[in-house]
Parts: sequence; C-alpha cells; structure tokens
Amino acid sequence: MTEPLAPTLDDLAAAGAAPAVVEAAPRERRDGAQRLAARLGGIAYGGDYNPEQWPEEVWHEDVRLMRAAGVNLVTVGVFSWARLQPSPHAWDLGWLDRVLDLLAEHGIAVDLATATASPPPWLARRHPETLPVMADGTTLWPGGRQHFCPSSAAFREAATTVARAVAERYADHPALALWHVGNEYGCHVNACWCDRCAVAFRHWLAHRYGDLEALNAAWGTDFWSQRYHAWDEVLPPRTVPAIPNPTQQLDHRRFASDALLSCYLAERAILDAVSPEVPVTTNAHPHLDAQDWHRFAAHVDVVSYDGYPDPADPQAHREAGVAADLMRGVGGEAPWLLLEQAPSAVNWRERNVMKPPGTMRRWSLQALARGADAIMFFQWRASKAGAEKFHSGMVGHAGTEGSRTWDEVAALGAELPRLTEVVGSRVEADVGIVCDWASWWALELPSRPTTLRWREQLAWLREPLDDAGLTSRFVAPGQSLDGVALLLVPNLYLCEERTARWLTAFVAGGGVLVVGLFSGVVDANDHVHLGGYPAPLREVLGVRVPEVDPLPEDASVAVAGPGDRAGHATLWREPIELHGAQALVTHQDGWLAGRPAATRHEHGAGVAYYLGAGLDAATTAAVLDQAAGDAGCVAPLEAPPEVEVVRRRAADGRSWLFALHHGEEPVALAVPAGVEDLLGHDVHDARLVLEAGDVAVLREPQAAGDAAKRRG
Ligand code: GLA
Ligand code: ZN
Repeated sequence: MTEPLAPTLDDLAAAGAAPAVVEAAPRERRDGAQRLAARLGGIAYGGDYNPEQWPEEVWHEDVRLMRAAGVNLVTVGVFSWARLQPSPHAWDLGWLDRVLDLLAEHGIAVDLATATASPPPWLARRHPETLPVMADGTTLWPGGRQHFCPSSAAFREAATTVARAVAERYADHPALALWHVGNEYGCHVNACWCDRCAVAFRHWLAHRYGDLEALNAAWGTDFWSQRYHAWDEVLPPRTVPAIPNPTQQLDHRRFASDALLSCYLAERAILDAVSPEVPVTTNAHPHLDAQDWHRFAAHVDVVSYDGYPDPADPQAHREAGVAADLMRGVGGEAPWLLLEQAPSAVNWRERNVMKPPGTMRRWSLQALARGADAIMFFQWRASKAGAEKFHSGMVGHAGTEGSRTWDEVAALGAELPRLTEVVGSRVEADVGIVCDWASWWALELPSRPTTLRWREQLAWLREPLDDAGLTSRFVAPGQSLDGVALLLVPNLYLCEERTARWLTAFVAGGGVLVVGLFSGVVDANDHVHLGGYPAPLREVLGVRVPEVDPLPEDASVAVAGPGDRAGHATLWREPIELHGAQALVTHQDGWLAGRPAATRHEHGAGVAYYLGAGLDAATTAAVLDQAAGDAGCVAPLEAPPEVEVVRRRAADGRSWLFALHHGEEPVALAVPAGVEDLLGHDVHDARLVLEAGDVAVLREPQAAGDAAKRRG
C-alpha cells in the first residue's frame, strides 16, 4: 500500500487556504514596555480613539480634552479598514494622516492598529470564503466584526495588504509609539470549521504527526471505527451524532490557536521589515481560554490585555488579579499593558452596572500593582451610533460637564505621574501557578467523569493564598522556577512525562508543590496514563488512586483535618492509597470513611501535597497554610484579606508596596517604618489609615525591602 499523501503548501494554495504551522522564532527580548515607557517618560494613559466616527471639528476638541485628562497614548485605527480601503484598489489615508499629525502636534503618542480586526463588507462580497463557519455549518456574516476565517488565504492576503499600507505610510510618523496587530484575536471567533480550515488542519496535523498512521494512533481511531486511510477523510470536529473524538477536538483547539497566531505573525513580519524599531503587541482579552497565550506572548514585544471585571461582582478584583498575574506570566514577568478597560459601565452584559466611585481608580492601580505600566480605556469618546453606544467612554454623550466618569478619568490622569518611579519594576511573587492551555482545553472537553472548570479549580487553590496576602505568578510547564518557593498545580489533567519530571525535580530540589484533584491523568494525546492515577506524579506525591468517585450535584461529604478540624467536600472524592505520603485530611463518610482526602509527602529536600477531594474553602486554606509555611512564603505586609498588598521592585533594589483596599470600612495598617506614600497619605508611627476603596503606594526604605526579600 502506498503512503497516503498529506496536503502540501501547493495543495493549500490551490484550496485557497493558508498554513497554520508556526515557524517564526520567538522574540528574544520582550522589552516593548520598557521602550514605550522611555518614549512616553512614564506610565501610558489613554484609550481607544475612533475619530472616524466623528466630524473633524470634534477631533480638535478631543486633543484639547486629552491634554486636560493627562492622556499620552491613544490606540487608533482598530476598526478603520473600511474607511482606509473603500475597495480593493482604492485608498483613503488622508484623514488618518490628519489625525496622527494632530495627535503628534499635541504631544500624544499613538498605538497604531494594522486595521485588520473587522474586514470591510467588500471582502466578504468578493470572497465569501473569508467568512468563518461554525461546527454546525452556520456561516458568520458581516454586520458585526471579526468575521474572518483564519485559514482563508484571501483574508490573509487582504489583511497583509492593508497592514502593509498602514505600516509603510506611518513607520516614520512622529506620533507612532507602538504597533497594534489585529484586535483581540479569538474574542468572538476562536476557531473555524470551514473547508479551508479542513485543508489547513490536515497540513498542520501532518506537520505534528508526520504520517497518517501516527495520527490514527494519537487520535485513538480504532475506537468507534474512526480509522483514517486517506488524509482528505480527516476533518475538523464538526457537529456529530455522538460525542466527538476528544483528541480530534483537542488538536483542533491547538490548530485554531496556531491559525490565529499565524494571522498575527503574517502582519508582524511586515511591521518587522518596515518598522523594526517600534514595539509590536496584540491585545489579549478576558476569554483567557480562547488561545494558547503562552504561544502568542512568545511573539510580542510587550503583552497587552483588555480587562473587564464586572462592577456588580463584589469579588471582581480577584478575577482581575488572576488575569493580571496570568498576563504578566505569559510575558515572562516583564511589565505589561492594560490596553483596555471600561471607564465605567460596558454595554454587553445583561445589566451594565457603573463602576462605583473610586472603583475605576482602584482597579487601575491594581493593574499597576500587578505589573502593568499602562492604564488605557475603551474608548476615548462614547460612540453616538452602533452596537457600543451605551458603553462608557472617557468622554460621555453629555460631554465632560457633570460627568462623574470624566472627573474620575481626569483625576487619575493627574495622579499617575506621581507613580512614574515604579515604571519598569517587577512584581515580587514566590508562589508559582502552573498554567497549560492544552490541559485546560482537554479538561473541559465533554465525556469526562464530571464537569470540571479549570478557572474554578484555580480559584479554589489560589484564593486562600490570595487571602493570606501571598502574590502569585504563572508559569508554563518546563519553565524556570527560580524564585518560586511554593508551586500550585490547580489542575493538570493533561500531564506529559517530562512535565511530571520537572515537577518532581522541583520538589526534590527543595520546592513545595501542591497538586489539585484529577491531575496527571492523560498524556499529550489525551490517552490515559495507566496503572493508577496520577501515574506520572505518583512518585512525587507518594499516592496512588485506583479510581475516582465524582459526587452528585449538591452532595456533601464529611472530612476531618488537618488536625482536629471538621470540614466537608463537594464535587469529587477519590480512594487515595498512601505510598509514602501521610494523610492530612481524612474522609468520614460512606465507603471512603478513613481514607485520605488530602496528603503530604516529603520527597527529596521538598514536600508535595495532593488534594484529592473538593475540599471546602476553610479546609483548603488550612492545607495551603501548612504548605506556605513549609515553603517559607511571607506576605509583603500583614493586612486583612480585603486589603490587597503587592510589592514591585526595581532592578536596583528600590521597592514599593501597593495597598489596595477593596472593603467597606476604614482599616489601619501597620507599615514598615520610614515608608512614604506616593499618593499623599500621611504615615504616622508606621501606621497608615486607608479609607474604604482607597489605595496607597508606599516607597520602602531600601533596607526594609531587602530584609523582607531575604525572608521571602
Ligand atoms: C473589546 C474590544 C473593544 C470594545 C470593548 C468593549 O475589548 O477590543 O473594541 O468592543 O471590548 O468592552
Ligand atoms: Zn475556516
């Protein structure tokens, strides 16, 4: 039998498809924030500016008000493709010249978009194959935005054409400070199932597996008679009668992420060639599972993120903290840019609550605390027409007069220059959290023992440490763990042998590891590691789990420990066998009575904990408290849980404590002697009183900061 032929680049071209195989080398330095800060002389402040929605007289009012609000950077052109290129061979860039000139004259720098986020209607008319198709065959039409198939060669061609036109025209423009490729890749459409994607998927699979036999093995196609004998039988996981093949789905997520990354890289290559001095970013968005952001971040000069915590959620700052830490983590802990947030309400929730007074300021300063060097909004001026007209703007429909939002925007703009000295410093965090997108996706595929959400598993283990004032940072499997004392693995369902070796070596070398339930279950192909869970982690954890016992909804079972505390578990339990570990928490109910629910294992110079049940918050906190004690983690400042404290430290040793009060009543904090608040609070006798909702940024006398660092 002859070897069936995998699609080649020529086959892709013939099918109108573009490849998703990522071949670009990662950026060697991700110093874009540093370059931007040097250019701006401080923290970036501003927002998305869409002057094409307004007559030219308004632009003059805009720049005057931008100056009044302390704006030094605006993002321009994100949705201007249809204005810049009215038809395939016609260009209208004059208006953008005038906008950029006006901004430059007023000393306002520009984050200039390549304009490819929303293709003009003419593209779909001429090339209907540029439209994305969902798993059930539904086409997504123009009339909204982001209606492009990432594997469409016609889209790539059109996008790179407009990106090149913009790049060539403005590469040397004095306003240009940052390139903004696309916008929020995958926010609305993170995968496509069309015919071009089918061809590109096969090509990507051939690159991953080499031959069809390896693909069959990886996908386990002897199950349900799915064996492929020719490449063109292989499809993206379209709507099927029964549960689709999980590895096919997992690979499609990987492929789809790479397809969008390939779109980004095609544009970035143009910017690199035309304008190598200007840093390049693309903004990530709150659908954190949409893409493999580790892979994206490897190819940007600075990570940027759009954060939209819900003001109606009293715990919203926690979500914001997670996102900030994750974005900083994917960027290798370098400063990042909060490129969008709402000045007040958004327009896309069921109920769009305003940010209460002081909240926008506090959440902005929270981003700075967690490593951002830019505070930006969507958008400068609230639209008069279109889907987002009821989304708050820095300038609202009524203008500035009587607007609390404007007053707060202008006040923050006036305040930020006081914090210039923190720019470029890094967040101090000795708690690491392992995040791996393939495992996240695999965990959440259908046909698992129960529904587990990675974000919920993350919150379960992170919140107690957050409450204890410990700062976390995120790492990818295999990454350096220098400076990490305590490593959390909230869930790592998909765990390759080499990842298990990396975790084991961390513990052997003296680290403290905490692993959450249903981790270490499958390999990269979603095939079970046999012989008892969590097979590759059994040695380091000192346990073996022969089977799992998900609990019915609303069921709760009693547990005891650590020590003599009584607690309960929901969601999940397992009959853990001890193979060297000690029980820390023990089941009290049913067939598992007397069996461990959480364990502690000394391995080499370190310790490994395993939580094999959905323990309640207080029990989990007690286990993590012990783990943090083993690791020697110390909070930067003793403060109640509603006061978030994070330290940033400059390369030369200077350091600052950000204290953000998310609670309702004033608090008095004992602060290190000799600190000085950059935001003007008086500190008497090492005591600082923070009103509800308020923030202090304390410059530490260098010796105290250094001592704290040694302890940590
Ligand atoms: C995203 C987009 C913006 C805007 C905002 C609204 O972040 O990037 O264009 O639509 O959402 O919240
Ligand atoms: Zn497609």
